[in-house]
Amino acid sequence: MLLFGAPSAWAQSAAAEGQKIAFDRSKGNCLSCHQIRGGDLPGSIGPELKDLKSKYPDRNDLVAIVTDETKRNPQTVMPPFGRNHVLTGQEINAVVDFLQTL
Ligand code: HEC
Repeated sequence: MLLFGAPSAWAQSAAAEGQKIAFDRSKGNCLSCHQIRGGDLPGSIGPELKDLKSKYPDRNDLVAIVTDETKRNPQTVMPPFGRNHVLTGQEINAVVDFLQTL
């Protein structure tokens, strides 16, 4: 019972942690540019973040976007959260777990 429950409980807590990081103005601060379900006072510089699991079935693509979107789009205004060390690899993973719930 416990063994079966554990992985999904873990996934849920990672997503909750990722939401905190994404909404934290001193961490991801994703809301300054993106509308995100459950977030207050979103900006509109980037697209609304939704249906990301169907748009990016490979979670590595989402990790890549959050880590350094300038690799995909050199003109982007989105900060390279991994390259500039605003977020650790572990934090980016949690954020991506959260993105996959949107
Ligand atoms: C300064 C503004 C800004 C901030 C802050 C920002 N983004 Fe972005 N983001 C953008 C823009 C603009 C795009 C559009 C794609 C591009 O510019 O290459 C984008 C694209 C994306 C995409 C692809 C969306 C799609 O539908 O294809 C994802 C996922 C994403 N951002 C996640 C995040 C996350 C998670 C954070 C916080 C950790 C964040 N962004 C913070 C500006 C921002």
